[in-house]
Amino acid sequence: MLRKSAALVLSIAGFCCVLYSQTQPVDSEGHQWWQHAVFYEIYPRSFMDSNGDGIGDLPGIDSKLDYLKSLGVDAIWITPCYPSPQVDFGYDVSNYEDIDAMYGTLADFDRLEQAAKQRGIRIIMDFVMNHTSDQHPWFVDSRSSRTATKRDWYMWHDGKAPGLPPNNWISTFGGSAWTFDAKTGQFYYHYFYPQQPDLNWHNPAVHEAMFDATRWWYKRGVAGFRLDAVDTLFEDPELRDNPVLPGLNKYGDPKEQDLYNTKLPEVHDVLRDLRKVADEHNAVLIGETWTKDVNELKQYYGEHNNELQMPMDFMFTKVDKLSPPEFRRQIAAVDSAGGWPVFVLSNHDIVRSYVRYGDGQHNQAIAKLMASLYLTLRGTPIMYYGEEIGMENNDPVRKEDVKDPIGRVGWPQEKGRDGERTPMQWDDSPNAGFTRGTPWLPIPPSYKTVNVASELKDPSSILQVYRSLLKLRHQNQALLEGDYVALNENDPNVLSYLRRYKNEAVLVVLNMSSQPQEVSFDLAPQSFAAKSARTLLTSMPPGSKESALSHLSLEPFSFYIAAVSK
Ligand code: GLC
Ligand code: CA
Repeated sequence: MLRKSAALVLSIAGFCCVLYSQTQPVDSEGHQWWQHAVFYEIYPRSFMDSNGDGIGDLPGIDSKLDYLKSLGVDAIWITPCYPSPQVDFGYDVSNYEDIDAMYGTLADFDRLEQAAKQRGIRIIMDFVMNHTSDQHPWFVDSRSSRTATKRDWYMWHDGKAPGLPPNNWISTFGGSAWTFDAKTGQFYYHYFYPQQPDLNWHNPAVHEAMFDATRWWYKRGVAGFRLDAVDTLFEDPELRDNPVLPGLNKYGDPKEQDLYNTKLPEVHDVLRDLRKVADEHNAVLIGETWTKDVNELKQYYGEHNNELQMPMDFMFTKVDKLSPPEFRRQIAAVDSAGGWPVFVLSNHDIVRSYVRYGDGQHNQAIAKLMASLYLTLRGTPIMYYGEEIGMENNDPVRKEDVKDPIGRVGWPQEKGRDGERTPMQWDDSPNAGFTRGTPWLPIPPSYKTVNVASELKDPSSILQVYRSLLKLRHQNQALLEGDYVALNENDPNVLSYLRRYKNEAVLVVLNMSSQPQEVSFDLAPQSFAAKSARTLLTSMPPGSKESALSHLSLEPFSFYIAAVSK
């Protein structure tokens, strides 16, 4: 949707057009491509296996692009597929500029990128910035001697006293965050597993090497990065002990406040620099931003909106019950934070939304309700593969079956993240059509009915609701551009809001209760005087196309989306 003036420039000089597309807004509201795009997270091990080894791969993703296109996906974020020993299933990178053989080759990547581009789908890579694998040549050199060229690329320190680590920092994956390396007699620091040593971002050479990696991928055509664990980039140079809190965590370590090893202000210098490079490529930066409140989230957008365009709002995922007041509070907070909101329901680290919100009885209806919430808000949604068909978690029941190391360390309190990472369920054939070999994680028996092929045939499936919602979202100006206005703010059961754009508005009404509800709206204060609404999409049986705003009946866990005019 180029502006007229831009179209003119385009016809006069191709050169200006390039400049325009890289630096300027794409529509009359000043919105950029990523503000209208629907993102979809792919965990490559689990999406589609093309060669029968039980592990998904890039050619597998390639073979499903038409599915993604018809679903309404505009950009895919692929979690790490770089060479890796797979201790943390790819989040331990041993080479930032290649593809792991288990996922394919660089040529496969280029083919995928081209095929995606032909369909108007952009590719977002995962950038693991805080740490590398201990098998990365940088770390291999770094640990080889105290005088190694790359010694200072990581965090090496002497212990406090013989046998004692430099301080009390604990790894978020259990145990001390320091591992002693006998060869050189010092400890190295790792916020995550010992096989994931933290890079020393105070070292300019690290900064340069990592920035070069992003440029390398931009040249290959990627449209941005999801930045992994951004808040852990810097640590207190004085290595002060963290305050200890009462009690033990799920790994049996003393709880502590990560005061001196997370969210240091220097993080923002790096984000500003990364943003400059991203802007040169019309690219988007998505952040794995765990924040305790909206003020913290605001900082990730940057004081002048010059850091991350899309910091994920994980506080939204913490609203763990169908509570209109809590969702209302959270949506209002992020909506007024000054940046563009980013909504997610779950990901490869979070239990699937189907089971988190489901009550065991109305899970189907609730999954549709949640879809109609995060796909109609002002902001960009990031879907998690399988969410669109209502995939459930398939948690391991025996410790010996656990693949994710934290599930073994923390068993049984922490079962790890295998449950939310199981293979995509494509059809009802063996292994859900994911592989002709043995899948790397077990597929739940529910795949017989919960799968893409069956749901495509069923007009009332969760998948059809996603498809309809995404179609509506792409066509409806009010859903794309409109502001967010909360309605009936005291209603404890029904979450309602208006998306207003010029003379159009979309009314969204979500019954989050197990009881039928009656609601009424007076939209005159919002400058919409119409007394009735025209139904766009609803989970209730089709009634008349027009509904009176003074009297709307809602079935339990139903959604109702309608157009209203002035
Ligand atoms: C992020 C990833 C997670 C990974 C961790 C360490 O939190 O989402 O899967 O284990 O970083 O890289
Ligand atoms: Ca494979």
